[in-house]
Amino acid sequence: MFKNVEWLRDAVFYEIYPQSFYDSNGDGIGDLKGIEEKLDYVKWLGCNAIWINPFYESPFGDAGYDITDFRKVAPRYGTNEDFEALCRSAHEKGIRILCDLVPCHTSIEHRFFRESSKKEKNEYSDFYIWCNDPGSEYPHLNKRKYERDDRYLCSFYAIQPAINYGFYEVTEDWQMDMNSEICLNNQKKLIDVMDYWISLGADGFRVDMAKDIIKSDPKREGTKLFWQKIRQYLDDNHPDIVLISEWSRGNEAVDAGFHMDMFLSGGSLFRNEKPEENYFNYFRKEGKGILSRFSDDYINIYEHIKGRGYWSLVSGNHDQPRISKGRDDEELKTLMAFILTMPSPPIIYYGDEIGMRFIEGIDKEGSQTSRGGSRTPMQWEDGKKNKGFSTSDDPYLPADNSEGSPSVDKQKGKDDSLLEYTRKMTSLKHSHSAFFADSDFRFMDRKMNYPLWYERKSSDETIRVVINPSGKKMTIKETENIKEILECRNASLDGNAITLTGLSVFIYTV
Ligand code: GLC
Ligand code: CA
Repeated sequence: MFKNVEWLRDAVFYEIYPQSFYDSNGDGIGDLKGIEEKLDYVKWLGCNAIWINPFYESPFGDAGYDITDFRKVAPRYGTNEDFEALCRSAHEKGIRILCDLVPCHTSIEHRFFRESSKKEKNEYSDFYIWCNDPGSEYPHLNKRKYERDDRYLCSFYAIQPAINYGFYEVTEDWQMDMNSEICLNNQKKLIDVMDYWISLGADGFRVDMAKDIIKSDPKREGTKLFWQKIRQYLDDNHPDIVLISEWSRGNEAVDAGFHMDMFLSGGSLFRNEKPEENYFNYFRKEGKGILSRFSDDYINIYEHIKGRGYWSLVSGNHDQPRISKGRDDEELKTLMAFILTMPSPPIIYYGDEIGMRFIEGIDKEGSQTSRGGSRTPMQWEDGKKNKGFSTSDDPYLPADNSEGSPSVDKQKGKDDSLLEYTRKMTSLKHSHSAFFADSDFRFMDRKMNYPLWYERKSSDETIRVVINPSGKKMTIKETENIKEILECRNASLDGNAITLTGLSVFIYTV
């Protein structure tokens, strides 16, 4: 699949939050040089592609998702040359670099918005979406004290005014059709931004809020047309560039032309714990989850996009509580084994490979406490200042120094640590064609709740994976001949009976 970006078949992504990863110059903030210095670690872990959160010039009202210059690395992260150097070093090591593309909005402090908010008509007046009808009840309209007396549409926070790519269904006077010249010009400007980062070495983009680009588009028809056009442009001009969406409906995103979308919440498998509603995560010792809440949805989307695109399972991201919240390392190992053996390229959020903890009560640069706790400095070395993240007395955020907090150095080389286990799984993944992103997948028995039992198959091998994330002992019977055991964790084989004692992973060929 994807002749020009074949590498995706064997890709394992690593998401890096640049301000918190590694500070190379001791000013307290992680930077691009810091990422470059840690490329060997990323490679050692078994990841061969990196998605970096926004590193562009910004007042950081939403941690960099509010941009004032789309073509400039924010000084706190380094320079554009640093980005080029990072790409060069990464490519030498066989690692791809994806930029975060933030197409839907700029910062309120962007030069264009300043112009746009002026009373007198100018070339930027319609760059954003302004509503001059005080009676309109269209959602997300904001008013601030500007010369111009209108309200503007925002994407997320009020500091993020939406760029005008138009509406699919125009129902009010102030709305422009998505095919109007101004809107098409804005699309062109976006393409120019992509071209720019491609020219510096980027291998692709993770597209922020991709599904929200066209307004009044409930079925995302206009949004799909918008992205299809961009994909066409890339295929014609830069066929080796990868487009990944923040959409969370793989079927829609792949139809829209994305190579891959992310299954953000991991569905009910990892998230949405609501015991009061009898709603439990699947990947927990208690073993009270319900697989079909995930599998029904997953299989439908999988069938829909098969052969055309991917739907990635992620360990977490910068917008969600850490996956370690409420879980111990044994539970996390079953979860890593799962995301690293399922179809589509997985994404590991920095620090999840050592089980970094979610820190309560952190609110930084617009994170709010729901997200801030997942954005703390990477814990490289125990006992070192800021856990080895920075030599500064004033780091971006304090590193987690709580009792028993994990670190790379404590786990590296230690048999059976979460870090080494994650690495074992990435290496297993890379060494089997059945685990390629596009190799076949099926649940062995969808009616079975625990354990999770599935098959991956390529033209030269068939692998079956059994995962029992619960602490309960159970036995299943394989009817085919087990040829080779690739992984056996808290499990045993007796004839064709596989006994999973709890928190188990059993992987074998048939
Ligand atoms: C996406 C980003 C999030 C950001 C928002 C607005 O959801 O992942 O961090 O705040 O878009 O750009
Ligand atoms: Ca720095």
